[in-house]
Amino acid sequence: MARLIDGKQVSADLKMRVKEEVAALKEKGVEPALAVIIVGSDPASRVYVNNKKKACELCGIRSVEYALEESTCEEELLALIDKLNEDETINGILCQLPVPKHINDKTVIERIDPKKDVDCFSNVNVGKMWVGDYAFKPCTPAGVMELLKAYDIDVSGKNCVIIGRSNIVGKPMAALLLEKNATVTICHSKTQNLAQICSKADIIVAAVGRAKFVTADMVKDGAVVIDVGINRSEEGKLCGDVDFENVKEKASFITPVPGGCGPMTIAVLMQNTLCAAKLQNNL
Ligand code: GUN
Repeated sequence: MARLIDGKQVSADLKMRVKEEVAALKEKGVEPALAVIIVGSDPASRVYVNNKKKACELCGIRSVEYALEESTCEEELLALIDKLNEDETINGILCQLPVPKHINDKTVIERIDPKKDVDCFSNVNVGKMWVGDYAFKPCTPAGVMELLKAYDIDVSGKNCVIIGRSNIVGKPMAALLLEKNATVTICHSKTQNLAQICSKADIIVAAVGRAKFVTADMVKDGAVVIDVGINRSEEGKLCGDVDFENVKEKASFITPVPGGCGPMTIAVLMQNTLCAAKLQNNL
């Protein structure tokens, strides 16, 4: 029976550390601020944005929301980003994804000044991360690394299998694990013998976007299973990519959904916003 990895607790601890540093910055006259842009009314995006604002409040970071109509054109969104790039009172800018189909998300991401790109999505920041010369961390993968650290799970030399190759999770997850000397395999929809590859893993990171994709037969006895997925089950219940009930019997550690990786993403966003404020004020 696996030990549960408590993302709520680890994220609360991380946010407390950010809060203390934010308070110290305020003593020096610097108030970290995050601009959050949301376009349209996707219900999931609304929940994420509200949670990000709540975390800012908890950490003492000023947050400013820009809620734009679904019909907003790309030029208008880019003009807002230009304005926020110039605004010295704003340290971090994020545009909640997905944006409506008539807006190109790559164009939006690249328009954000890399110094304010607290999502760590821009080409410049992704490149810096891969060579190990970075200030901002990719939020979800860095959150996973914090969870592993909190439970003294050493990845050095371990066989780590990531399922999913997205720019937000799978690819940057590989970079961070590699930096800590893991042996990394990225599996995806075209991977042959996926179950067999997973069954040899010491650590599995599932970021597929399909409920119960990772089943017990794919998991080695004693493996660490990290579930980044956020799906709705047929009954409408929030669930991850892992068949939790059966996999927990084989794993040594497992993250629940909700309460595993999700809260960590936001805690790292707070850390990045603090980092942006420090860098922009040469502190
Ligand atoms: N949509 C899903 N995850 C994220 C994230 O981490 N940042 C942004 N901006 N949008 C997202």
